[in-house]
Amino acid sequence: MTTPAAQIVDDAAYAQAVEDVVAAAAAYYTDGASPLDDDAYDRLVRGIAAWEAAHPDQVLPHSPTGKVAGGAVEGDVPHTVPMLSLDNVFSPEQFTAWTASLARRIGHEVERFSVEAKLDGLAVAARYTEGRLTRLITRGDGIAGEDVSHALGTLEGLPEKLEQPLTVEVRGEVLMTTAQFEHANEVRTAHGGQPFANPRGASAGTLRAKDRAYTVPMTFFGYGLLPLPDTDAELTERLDGLAHSELMALAARLGVHTTGATAVPTVTASTAEEVLERVREIAGLRAELPFGIDGIVVKADLAADQRAAGSGSRAPRWAIAYKLPVLPQIQS
Ligand code: IVH
Repeated sequence: MTTPAAQIVDDAAYAQAVEDVVAAAAAYYTDGASPLDDDAYDRLVRGIAAWEAAHPDQVLPHSPTGKVAGGAVEGDVPHTVPMLSLDNVFSPEQFTAWTASLARRIGHEVERFSVEAKLDGLAVAARYTEGRLTRLITRGDGIAGEDVSHALGTLEGLPEKLEQPLTVEVRGEVLMTTAQFEHANEVRTAHGGQPFANPRGASAGTLRAKDRAYTVPMTFFGYGLLPLPDTDAELTERLDGLAHSELMALAARLGVHTTGATAVPTVTASTAEEVLERVREIAGLRAELPFGIDGIVVKADLAADQRAAGSGSRAPRWAIAYKLPVLPQIQS
């Protein structure tokens, strides 16, 4: 016998139902315990499907419909909050047009921007339970990623223990510095392998490789800090209210490596012109950096501005990647 579908009356109820089902699927597939029993889960999924059939243009990207196990088994580990991508701009004109459209959307100029290097690596989420690093997950399709916890211990900048016993997720980029890339290729060729063509490919291959006869180090750069479902309410509220620049300062205090420790630290700026000045500075420093960057990420710094802007299906509306031209490959 099938139970009736849950009645979903408006888009807020729909968004809540999607969130509940994704969280329940995530909980079930991570530790086998779901806050919803099978019937309630099925009712909700069928309610979501019915609402989507009537509102096909409003289907949320992380909706569980049509996904095996609510998306929970796609790539192994569900993300608690989708890992989104970024929209791009390529010129000062496109950038100022973006700031203007963002101001229109939130009803006022963005209070403050955060401007940081766009690291050319792979996005990962690192989960800490009471300050201990427990799991490392790739971005995957943004909804669920691959468990690459076997790489823990090979990532410089991602401490095994935080300076405070917090339950949090640190998101960031894994890459190889120029020196790490050269070392990785020496080790790889010494083991009879073909050298990697570039640091990005080398990090991707290395991160996913299991049971290799050797390990080579990579570097982690944090660019996000968020609560997990098990984070206590007080810390969740605190993190949700912090500006991006404050979250990055906290990440650094916890012992996580960020661009703060490099020649291109994250800065804040009040106007589009100030942002563009920083874009030019970072672009000028790019060739000398010991790691690859492929642009500059500009984010609305304040949590309130980010919330007002919201996110689209692919990317947040409060952040943009200012892309730099692709550099010619140095042939070795
Ligand atoms: S923020 C919700 N900050 O760029 C905001 N991403 O092209 C999304 N990336 O998937 C991420 N450096 O892997 C952010 N400083 C930075 C970044 C950064 C590199 C990567 C990230 C993202 C991709 C989008």
